[in-house]
Amino acid sequence: MMGIRQGKAADLEEQSFVLSGADLYRLNCRSCHGPDGQGAPPEINSLIGPVQATSAALLMERMKKRGSPIDKSMAEQLAAPSEADLRERLRKGGKKMPSFEHLRGDEVEALLGYLETLAGLPPTERSRMLVPQSVARVGEHVVKGTCHSCHDATGPGGGHMAMTSGIIPSLESFPRQQSVDSVIRQVQYGSSGGMMPMMGGPQMPAFPYLTKEEVAAAYFYLAHYPPKP
Ligand code: HEC
Ligand code: HEC
Repeated sequence: MMGIRQGKAADLEEQSFVLSGADLYRLNCRSCHGPDGQGAPPEINSLIGPVQATSAALLMERMKKRGSPIDKSMAEQLAAPSEADLRERLRKGGKKMPSFEHLRGDEVEALLGYLETLAGLPPTERSRMLVPQSVARVGEHVVKGTCHSCHDATGPGGGHMAMTSGIIPSLESFPRQQSVDSVIRQVQYGSSGGMMPMMGGPQMPAFPYLTKEEVAAAYFYLAHYPPKP
């Protein structure tokens, strides 16, 4: 991530972030689709194929190899529905994939630019885009793209009762019950074996690719915009 000043979590509010498409992918997609976009088929489909299908250049190359070349406008016409599908997938999500309807136009363009790079397509204008972000916005990406797949928005926190009955603490409970430093620790190293794993329940994995500032931003977001049911 670029443009971030070092500082304590308390100074976070004044910090500004600038995210690349790669950063947006890391905060929003990587927790499920992995660093290379391959996912974990059959549950989590690879996104490489659907992204390659959006490329007119790749389509022209493939048709040429098959001995039935097509011109550029034809290729663009054939590839267009695939890009529409990809945008639709972001807007609506899927059966298990959350919706990313909250992404702004510039965020979507930067993200699509990075997906093209990830899928091995030639870089375009949008693959170099940088998007200015507020702290709350970075936190929103982390929460909605990474934490929310396991943690409900609202509900019990991490008390003894809830944890022994196997309920994963809610997002809303973090700013009330945890310090920013303990949340950062939990995310960077995974759980150190709390009550729930001890009882044979699930254990939180580590997300070492999220920076301290990004996790602090998630905490800031949850404190200022408490999730509603
Ligand atoms: C919580 C997990 C999760 C997150 C986060 C997530 N996805 Fe997915 N994605 C899935 C799953 C699961 C599928 C398979 C179908 C389904 O259940 O929706 C999928 C399928 C897809 C597909 C369709 C693949 C195909 O074969 O048609 C694309 C494209 C995709 N995801 C892109 C993204 C992008 C881009 C992001 C980040 C903005 C993202 N996903 C974030 C879980 C996730
Ligand atoms: C793959 C599922 C999963 C994801 C994704 C996940 N967590 Fe967790 N988290 C858990 C589970 C399970 C527990 C409870 C058991 C434990 O501590 O391992 C937990 C516990 C926690 C706790 C301890 C709460 C308490 O009261 O003791 C914090 C804080 C936390 N998660 C923060 C986060 C944040 C922030 C994110 C997003 C960056 C996140 N988690 C993403 C599964 C997940």
